[in-house]
Amino acid sequence: MERTYLMVKPDGVQRGQVGQIISRFEQRGYKIVGLKMMQIPREVAEKHYGEHAGKPFFQGLVDFITSGPVVAMVIEGKEAVATAREMMGATNPLKAAPGTIRATFGIDVGRNIIHGSDSVESAQREIAIFFRPEELVDYGRAV
Ligand code: CMP
Repeated sequence: MERTYLMVKPDGVQRGQVGQIISRFEQRGYKIVGLKMMQIPREVAEKHYGEHAGKPFFQGLVDFITSGPVVAMVIEGKEAVATAREMMGATNPLKAAPGTIRATFGIDVGRNIIHGSDSVESAQREIAIFFRPEELVDYGRAV
């Protein structure tokens, strides 16, 4: 089983889209093994988006992601990383395939509703930034 890190960004929270977005992953059969609402400290945001440091949009990205509450989550299931990215759609909602989360809820590359890890390695790194091991649950044999 694979895990990925997902985050409903401040625009999705402010616009009341959290439930609809989480539902999509539940409907698809993914298990939510970590979930919390939080306001990201600036230094944590800079660490999370470290690969974009120096890019022209970096400061705006950090300003935005720290501007209001986000919903951080870890989902688990088969090929969770790739499938979640497929479900989210392209980074720019205007380019995202119809029906994807970003195409459905977003209209701007900066305010693109949701973040999802881009690889298994990124997922491990990002999960460790936002969750302590004891915050992640084990469904065991529950149906
Ligand atoms: P995300 O998946 O969270 O990862 C990095 C984010 O940077 C991305 O979503 C976009 O929201 C943001 N981003 C990428 N390219 C641009 C851009 N050209 N202008 C503004 N923000 C961008």
